Amino acid sequence: MNTNLVLIGFMGSGKSSIGKRLANRLGREFLDSDELTSSRAGKTISEIFQTEGEEHFRKLETEELRRLTGSSGIVLATGGGSILREMNRALLRTIGTVLWLHADPEILFERATRNRRRPLLEVENPRGTFRTLLESRLSLYEQTASLTIDASGLSHEQTVERIIRALEARGNEGCDTTPSSAGTV
Ligand code: S3P
Repeated sequence: MNTNLVLIGFMGSGKSSIGKRLANRLGREFLDSDELTSSRAGKTISEIFQTEGEEHFRKLETEELRRLTGSSGIVLATGGGSILREMNRALLRTIGTVLWLHADPEILFERATRNRRRPLLEVENPRGTFRTLLESRLSLYEQTASLTIDASGLSHEQTVERIIRALEARGNEGCDTTPSSAGTV
C-alpha cells in the first residue's frame, strides 16, 4: 500500500482512533485534519466555531487539506464535515485513497455525543440535528469514497483488520482513487 489513506465518515465513526491504529499497523505517519487546524489556529475546534463561526472553520479546513496534497505515506483522519465542500471532495481524492468509515446510526450517535467536543451537536435537540446532518451527508461520503467500510459491531482492531483486508482484496495497493470503483465491505 503505497499511497496515502484518507478516512472520512460521520462524527463518531472512529476516524481518529481507527486511523491511529491503522497507521501503526502500516508503519505510517498518522495525521488528523482537525488537530492540524486546531493547532495552527491555537484554539480548539469548539472555540473556532464559537468565536469565528462554522464558515471560518470550513475555510481553515480547506486550507489544511490543500497543504496535505503534498504529503506521502500518511493515514489521514478528517473531520466529519470535510466532504461538504466540492473543493474538499476533490482535495481528499487527490491526497489519497478515500475510505468511508460507516456504522449503524445509533452507534454513531452514542459515540458522537459521549463528550462535548462537537459544537454541531451542542444544540437543543442533538438527536434531530444528528439525523438531519447524517441524512444530508450520506451521499457525499458515498460519492467521495473509493471504499466503504461498515464498522458496525466491530472493535477498532477488527475494523483495522477489515480495512487492510479490503485494500488487499482490491489488489490496488491503495492506488486507485476513482469513486466509480467504489464498493462496500
Ligand atoms: C464536524 C466534525 C468534527 C469537526 C467539527 C465539524 C462535522 O470532526 O471537524 O466539529 O461537521 O461533522 P469529527 O468528525 O472528528 O467529530
